[in-house]
Amino acid sequence: MTVNHALTGKKILLGISGGIAAYKCAELTRRLKDQGAEVRIVMTAAAKEFITPLTMQAVSGHEVADNLLDPSAQSSMGHIELGKWADLVLLAPATAHLIARLRAGFGDELLTTLCLATTAPIAVSPAMNMEMYLSPATQENISVLAQRGTLIWGPGKGPQACGDIGPGRMLEPDDLVQRVIAFFNPEKAIFEGINITITAGPTQEALDPVRYISNHSSGKMGFSLAEMAQKMGANVTLISGPVNLPTPTNVNRINIKSALQMHAASIDSLAHCDIFIACAAVADYRAEDIASHKIKKQKEIDDLTIKLVKNPDIIADVASHANRPFCVGFAAETQDVEHYAADKLKRKNLDLIAANNVAMAGQGFNSEQNALTVFSANQRVDISLADKKVVAFQLLEIIRQHYK
Ligand code: PMT
Repeated sequence: MTVNHALTGKKILLGISGGIAAYKCAELTRRLKDQGAEVRIVMTAAAKEFITPLTMQAVSGHEVADNLLDPSAQSSMGHIELGKWADLVLLAPATAHLIARLRAGFGDELLTTLCLATTAPIAVSPAMNMEMYLSPATQENISVLAQRGTLIWGPGKGPQACGDIGPGRMLEPDDLVQRVIAFFNPEKAIFEGINITITAGPTQEALDPVRYISNHSSGKMGFSLAEMAQKMGANVTLISGPVNLPTPTNVNRINIKSALQMHAASIDSLAHCDIFIACAAVADYRAEDIASHKIKKQKEIDDLTIKLVKNPDIIADVASHANRPFCVGFAAETQDVEHYAADKLKRKNLDLIAANNVAMAGQGFNSEQNALTVFSANQRVDISLADKKVVAFQLLEIIRQHYK
């Protein structure tokens, strides 16, 4: 048999709750390991009624974690360490009870507590009787989790342990492994043949030959989007302000400095653009006149007035262009995020807007992580705090769902 190592180096935390499908977790663990993943297991008390910790320890090669309050377990790898260790938390099978507890944010046993503590993406694979799955409570719980950015994988349809036939079966181990591989290897090409233009970084608005007005954008969010979109098969044009980042592989990068230059490059790109994502932090105003020589400090003058004039709104102009692509804006806000984002969505005639609360520490400008709330005219989806590449992947998946 040829062993393909599509998951080498990936750390998967498999959380097992108490459903009959738990018996498939030994096989699931083995298949994940076949792909090169390291797998650690957390079990709820009910899960141990369906498959023994000894079996899961043997197939994973690690002691199973099952107790929030065991001092010896907590001193080796407690809920915080397990949450930090994981690249992906996969909850399979996820019973109706576990899903309800996740939605409510319970922290009274190990599995739900580490889900609260982790910044890794969480994937839920529902498994339950079809009537339980279709009940309004479960449907609402799943929909809330999806809105928070939790990945929902399944359920499958078919004959169930209780004899019913319908939706509620946990996806088969092979299907789940494929989902995990697709998650970590987005080059599964969902944007094959699609042209995406992304603006990134700050603009610099010159005052004189040595000074400018700018902002703290590092370009990391826009460059993460460019890298992930390219891996997902898109032809990517990245229009970047001055940043200190390498160009992602196979991305066409156009360097600009000012908002006017970014505007011109963006309009030029529309000749071949299906999706336009405006992630750049563009200066709303520029100096009306750029001094041709360095502005000197003058002894007798304490106040200096520089007249600023409005820059064009790049995304609004793109969205009103005759050759209009699917338009995604960002909104960096420090207060009333939802209100301002909804206003920009409408005012700039966008298809989607990704709102950043840049007043929160550790996210937004010049940080490694971000969290977004994505609004369309009638839907809202939360992407929880994670590495900007993970956030980029999730935003691109949402864009794909809306882009026709
Ligand atoms: O670069 P990083 O350090 O990784 O930080 C990422 C980020 C915080 C810069 C990014 O996630 C973000 O939120 N970018 C948008 C920042 C912003 O300027 O937002 P805004 O609310 O001022 O603008 C709203 C939208 O209009 C944005 O899509 C912006 O690109 C666009 N715009 C704004 C002004 C203008 N003249 N032309 C525009 O196209």
